[in-house]
Amino acid sequence: MPTHQSLGGASDEELLQRMVATHAERFDAAFWTFFDAHAGRRLPPRAVMVDLGCGPGLLLRDLGERYPDAVLHGYDVTQAMIAHARQLTFKPARVTLTLHDVVTQPLPLASATANLTSMSSVLHVFDEPLPTLAEIRRVLAPGGIFLLNDWVRQPLSTYLDYRRDVLNESGPEALKRAFRLFPAHNKYTVEDWRWLLGEAGFEVLAQTELRASHRIFVTTPAR
Ligand SMILES: C[S@@+](CC[C@H](N)C(=O)[O-])C[C@H]1O[C@@H](n2cnc3c(N)ncnc32)[C@H](O)[C@@H]1O
Repeated sequence: MPTHQSLGGASDEELLQRMVATHAERFDAAFWTFFDAHAGRRLPPRAVMVDLGCGPGLLLRDLGERYPDAVLHGYDVTQAMIAHARQLTFKPARVTLTLHDVVTQPLPLASATANLTSMSSVLHVFDEPLPTLAEIRRVLAPGGIFLLNDWVRQPLSTYLDYRRDVLNESGPEALKRAFRLFPAHNKYTVEDWRWLLGEAGFEVLAQTELRASHRIFVTTPAR
C-alpha cells in the first residue's frame, strides 16, 4: 500500500525510482539559471533552506553544493524517500531529514527563520493547500523566498502525448495510470496557482515554464 499520495497507484519504491531517474532533467541548467536570477540572489550565504515533500533529497543536495554554508531541512511523509535522502552526501554540515506529514503537523521550525522554502510537485496532491501555504508563510523570514514548482492544467490529449513521448510510457497499464493521474496533475491552471498564492499572502516575483506540464513561481510574503 503506497503511503504517499501520488494517486497513481505506484508503490513508494516506484515513485522514489521515478523521482531519482528524472531529477537531473527536472532540475537542469535552465532551472538553475532561473533559480540564480530570481531566487538565489536574494539568499544570504548561510541561508536556512526547507524542502517540503523533499522526496529523495536530491534538490536539497544540489542546493547544498551551491550553498555549502546553508542549513538544510527536508520533510517527507514517505519513509523510503527519507531513507534515500539520508544516505546522500551533503556539502553543508547542518542537514536534517525528517519523516513528517506536512498536511497534519506544523513544521518543527520557529517562525520567521527560513530564507528559502520549496515545494516541487507536491502541493497539487493536498486536498486543501491554504493551511500549508499559511505554515510556509509562518516559517519564512522577512524577504524569504517560497519556490513553488508544480503541475499545471493541460488538455487531456496533450497530457497523454506528454506521458507517451516524454516519459516514454506505453501499454494498457500506463494508459490506465495516465487516466488515473490526469485529475491530480491537471487540477490547477496557472491562474489558479497565482490566485492561491495571492490568497495565502504571497507576492509572485517571477514565474517560468521550463516544461509545458509545470510552472515555477518565485514568491515572497506580501508586505
Ligand atoms: C512527486 S514526489 C516529488 C518529490 C520531490 N519534491 C521531487 O521533486 O523530486 C511528491 C512527494 O511528496 C511527498 N508527500 C506527499 N504528501 C505529503 C505530505 N502530506 N507530507 C509530506 N510529504 C508528502 C511524497 O512522499 C513524495 O515524496
